[in-house]
Amino acid sequence: MTIESHDGSSSDLDVLNGATVVLGVTGGIAAYKSVELLRRLMDLGAYVIPVLTESALRFVGAATFSALASETAKTSLFDLTDPILHTRLGQQADLIVVAPATARLIGEYAHGISRDLLTTTLIATVAPVVLCPAMHTEMWNHVSIQENMETLRRRGVFVVEPERGRLAGGDIGEGRLAAVDVILEACARSLAPKRDLAGKNVVISAGGTREAIDPVRFIANHSSGKQGYALAEDARRRGAQVTLVTTVDRPSLPGIETVSVDSAQQLFEAVLRLADQADIVVMAAAVADFRPVATATQKLKKRAGIPEIILEPTPDTLAELGRRRRPGQVIVGFAAETEDVIANGARKLKDKRVDLIVVNDVSQEGAGFHSDLNAVVILGQNDRRIDVGLGPKSTIAHAVFDEVVSLIGKH
Ligand code: CTP
Repeated sequence: MTIESHDGSSSDLDVLNGATVVLGVTGGIAAYKSVELLRRLMDLGAYVIPVLTESALRFVGAATFSALASETAKTSLFDLTDPILHTRLGQQADLIVVAPATARLIGEYAHGISRDLLTTTLIATVAPVVLCPAMHTEMWNHVSIQENMETLRRRGVFVVEPERGRLAGGDIGEGRLAAVDVILEACARSLAPKRDLAGKNVVISAGGTREAIDPVRFIANHSSGKQGYALAEDARRRGAQVTLVTTVDRPSLPGIETVSVDSAQQLFEAVLRLADQADIVVMAAAVADFRPVATATQKLKKRAGIPEIILEPTPDTLAELGRRRRPGQVIVGFAAETEDVIANGARKLKDKRVDLIVVNDVSQEGAGFHSDLNAVVILGQNDRRIDVGLGPKSTIAHAVFDEVVSLIGKH
């Protein structure tokens, strides 16, 4: 068995060589980590201009950034020697990366509020923007932040999701600034988006299905659909024409067509209809294996006693895709497992006759359902195995499509 691990190789980072990067730093405890990010960007040959907000200066000193960067750190809109600094920076930048990005910066950027040099530069640019949020878990999960993040994602901003780990004050949770390597990988990807799926038709399923028991109740699962959406965004950025068959309603990148479904049967019909034209089908949806034989037309009443719900199997979309596969079509399945993770994944690869199975250990802490993070093992033919460590779902999606691209035209 060949075992590889997927991490942005140094050749991927070469695109940063010679790029003009505006490094935005806002006022969070993680601001000290952006010094390391600056140093790594400089080592890679980037021309880095740091822009620090007023509150960033409470955590780190401008002198540190000025000493390491290509230009002195910029801290004010009202630099008398350069009265239009924000437009100069916005135009000059090949890329703007904000690390850490605080709740305030995210809110202002999402709403077009230009309050200081950094927000003004962000609004005055057409360069790709990589945003690396870092804050307390409660803040990160707050609906206002999540809505602002969705707005920015929809506009094409590259988001490097925060990690789970130790936060300021000793708390542990999601909200810690992503690792420098992950941020660099996102920077490189935003600068040189791979167009290796241009002209390809990709169908992706996302979310968990719902099997109705009566008009108000259903059998469901914990799938949030986040991984499926991340896959759709990655395929879209690579130039594919993407159709997302989804049970959840989340904002997505422009250009992704969505088809809403609810039950396993609806998902089966939609995916198989679309698969006729598809070059690649990725089944990230968590599909119910069983459904009630009959759905009660009226709400089941408690006084009628414990109901007996007889189940029947649902159609297996992935297995059917494997059976109907056209020559050259690439089919990818997912497997959510809690035990014997690799063996169960390998069995599904064989039984469902697909090209890849992305195995997800959903019992692992910090990964899987609802989380922005995931860790997977991608299993392919001839015992091929790629381990993708805990990281944002966007990184997992990218690793999956790297592998898919390597299979195109192979059979
Ligand atoms: N799948 C499907 N249709 C189903 C069940 C599953 O298309 N009725 C797909 C899923 O989208 C996923 C893959 O099959 O890509 C594996 O799903 P999983 O639930 O992990 O496996 P099962 O086939 O249900 O097997 P088991 O119950 O043994 O885990």
